[in-house]
Amino acid sequence: MTADTLAAPRSPEVRRRGVNLEKWGWIYMRVSGVLLIVLIFGHLFVNLMVGDGIHAIDFAFVAGKFASPFWQWWDVAMLWLALIHGANGMRTIVNDYVANKTARTVLVWALWVSAGLLILLGTLVVFTFDPCIPNLSDGSVLFEYCNAN
Ligand code: HEM
Repeated sequence: MTADTLAAPRSPEVRRRGVNLEKWGWIYMRVSGVLLIVLIFGHLFVNLMVGDGIHAIDFAFVAGKFASPFWQWWDVAMLWLALIHGANGMRTIVNDYVANKTARTVLVWALWVSAGLLILLGTLVVFTFDPCIPNLSDGSVLFEYCNAN
């Protein structure tokens, strides 16, 4: 192994570090992939096909979904699993194609920092979302709902 290449996943060098992160990363990609199939297709089915399907999607539809802890957790699970899956997949691609060690370190850090920020922002949006903004107009579909609550 030269200074610029990565140690093989099963080399003693990687194993000596204790937890084999490459192995857990490999397992994570498979497990999250299976969970994402259920979550993504469930999401598409409920949003695009049930009832009026795509024609029912508006601000009130989203507000209705975010009012339910079930859909909040569904969406947050999709967000976390997909972003960590996507970032780890991109890390693999970066490790495969970027030969320079410094560039590789910078890119992999940028991937985890951006995934972390998006996870933080997305989670905050899902759990703090409040559709009842001040001064809702009379014509708003949310007017009755917000004034009743
Ligand atoms: C339907 C759900 C999904 C399934 C079943 C799935 C499955 C997988 C599996 C098994 C791998 C590993 C492939 C390998 O190691 O050779 C992988 C890699 C990858 N996935 Fe997913 N994935 C899904 C959704 C996503 C999503 C939503 C994203 C983006 C956020 C994504 C981005 C990636 C990337 C960038 C890689 C790395 C590709 C590579 O190594 O060449 N995947 N996916």
